[in-house]
Amino acid sequence: MEALKGVRILDMTHVQAGPTCSQLLAWLGADVIKFEPPQGDATRGQLRDVPGADSLYFTMLNCNKRSITVNMKSAEGKAVFADLVRQCDIVMENFGPGVLDRLGFTYEKIRELNPRIVMGSIKGFGSTGPYADFKAYENVAQAMGGAMSTTGVPDGPPFVTGAQIGDSGTGLHLAIGLLAALHQSQRTGKGQYVEVAMMDGVMNLCRVKFRDHQRLTRGPLPEYSVPTHQGMGAAPRAGNDSGGGQLGNAIRCKPGGPNDFIYVVVQEAVWEALAKRIGPDIGQPGLATDARFATIGERRKNQSLMWELIGEFALRHTKREFMAILNPLDVPCGPIMSTEDLANDEHIRGRDMYVELDHPQRGKWFNVGMPIKLSDSPAAIKRSPLLGEHTDEILAEVLGYDAAKVASLKAAGAFTAPPKKA
Ligand SMILES: CC(C)(COP(=O)(O)OP(=O)(O)OC[C@H]1O[C@@H](n2cnc3c(N)ncnc32)[C@H](O)[C@@H]1OP(=O)(O)O)[C@@H](O)C(=O)NCCC(=O)NCCS
Repeated sequence: MEALKGVRILDMTHVQAGPTCSQLLAWLGADVIKFEPPQGDATRGQLRDVPGADSLYFTMLNCNKRSITVNMKSAEGKAVFADLVRQCDIVMENFGPGVLDRLGFTYEKIRELNPRIVMGSIKGFGSTGPYADFKAYENVAQAMGGAMSTTGVPDGPPFVTGAQIGDSGTGLHLAIGLLAALHQSQRTGKGQYVEVAMMDGVMNLCRVKFRDHQRLTRGPLPEYSVPTHQGMGAAPRAGNDSGGGQLGNAIRCKPGGPNDFIYVVVQEAVWEALAKRIGPDIGQPGLATDARFATIGERRKNQSLMWELIGEFALRHTKREFMAILNPLDVPCGPIMSTEDLANDEHIRGRDMYVELDHPQRGKWFNVGMPIKLSDSPAAIKRSPLLGEHTDEILAEVLGYDAAKVASLKAAGAFTAPPKKA
């Protein structure tokens, strides 16, 4: 049985942050009703690769959901929304600040309609504090949550990371909050409001950078290859330094293309074996006993030279060959995998992490699979819904509306956009 079977979610979320969360909950078995404005989630039409078809931006974030369109700016649409709130366990949204309040549905109002409902909200900066009124997208959250200032090379500009820590990262945080509140509501009959600010979520993911921030007040950070000093105000950008207790770096391999790198962690326990293996090949037969690298402290001090020597060896091998040399030595390492590498990777396919789906408008396409594996409840991934595909089904099955009621609501414009003013 699916773990969340029987849990019904009214999902008003759009773009990426919210849909990431609701897609995961759908993969865990919840009945997710994607509640869309008549023109649909804006991402349906964004970055379109197939004319007239829902974009991959949409399809990849909205699998296993049902779609209903409702015009919340009509009285009839609001009534449908209120009825759905009464029938759901969770309602979730990630509109700009104040949007739902302006539509007449504050949390207090929603709680009145259904006291046991859990309400989840994602905001750029939360509902309190000086930034509360601002909208946010992924990179704004990365900028303001500490990620950008600590990503990049020391004398270059700050960089965003490709992992969507602002949007998808916040969606993950929300999923945890929703499940906790749902568990409580099922025991007490009382729901609550769960809020995750994207800025807070990114800051949480940058936790170890605040470890370094505080350590800087006591002295330099010896594990960084860039100079850091006592009294330095902020954790610096440190390129590809591991930033942890073990030394690590990205090393260029043969034939020198943009992704011909391998990330190597010179864990304390593996140095001797590693040095014995690479030393002779690069004219350093005594590397394993070289005093400059004998202890982790020495290796930290001389890490630039250590990376140079490992790099000399790496340039004679491809990233896969180097991985095959390092794995038997128990050296933690990973070739830099491009999206192309991953899309064709046997391990990834074997773990259902890149799954082929069909779609009535676009034909075959791929989605990244479900990363959370439950032993008895594996996710069965199904395509995203077309806009309003399940409107009639939801009105009948979830709300019990009869054909006459649906017809009169349709005539009143509850599910369609009002005509544009001339
Ligand atoms: C992402 C974001 C910047 C997009 O901004 P936006 O496109 O201007 O959209 P908003 O959420 O501010 O507003 C949505 C509008 O659609 C309207 N709308 C939403 N659902 C509707 C429905 N079913 N029927 C009618 N209108 C609807 C809202 O009433 C609102 O209109 P208003 O501006 O007249 O109040 C903003 O939603 C935001 O900051 N969200 C919170 C942070 C977040 O999640 N960001 C990451 C997204 S990946």
